[in-house]
Amino acid sequence: MTAGPTHEPIDGIRYIGNRSSGRLGVELADEGARRGWAVTLLLGPSALTPSRPEVELVRFGTAAELGALLRARQAGCDALVMAAAVADYRPAQAAGGGKLRRGDGPLTLVLEPTEDLLAACATRREPGQVLIGFALEPREGLLDSARAKLSRKGVDLIVANPLETMESGEIEAWLVGPRGVVAETGGRLSKGAFAVWLLERVEDAAARPQGA
Ligand code: CTP
Repeated sequence: MTAGPTHEPIDGIRYIGNRSSGRLGVELADEGARRGWAVTLLLGPSALTPSRPEVELVRFGTAAELGALLRARQAGCDALVMAAAVADYRPAQAAGGGKLRRGDGPLTLVLEPTEDLLAACATRREPGQVLIGFALEPREGLLDSARAKLSRKGVDLIVANPLETMESGEIEAWLVGPRGVVAETGGRLSKGAFAVWLLERVEDAAARPQGA
């Protein structure tokens, strides 16, 4: 499981981040452990941590650090649940460990795209591995963009959820597979209840032959 935001450094003390709390991924990790899964949680800069001691916790800061962890740890996993809110862009040149000074005048930040980590995981996928991504999007057009993400990234399932989920204790979601919506929460669930809902369906997907 991956969770939390990424922090992409601008200089030694500033970064570009996002409003992800990491709560959903931490709930998923705890629920996995409760079900007897051997869970590794790759967790970004979040104030939250899993409460189950069985969860192996590994921290990352940037999208590139998360990418390196995924490359090192994907082999042998049964499922990857990619709940992290990964930066799409990062400063092309961070100003080292120093501090940018206002007195230096106007500042233009040039941003470059980060690697699509989930798509990269799909290219390394082992037989039987289930890959699940998230699509946090405006409610209008949510399912269309989830379907587009599913095929663009080459994953098995996408959890489509509207923008209001971020920073909220609740989530309303649709689970989208290659043939369309396979399940929906039918209203808002607490993130703890959602973790139970989603992992039951991941177990179902893992039990089916690939593509079925
Ligand atoms: N994701 C990823 N690597 C990135 C960005 C996102 O693996 N560099 C993952 C997220 O963890 C999430 C899924 O891809 O599970 C969808 O993230 P999102 O930001 O909505 O998708 P993008 O690929 O950034 O597509 P777009 O910018 O077109 O919305």
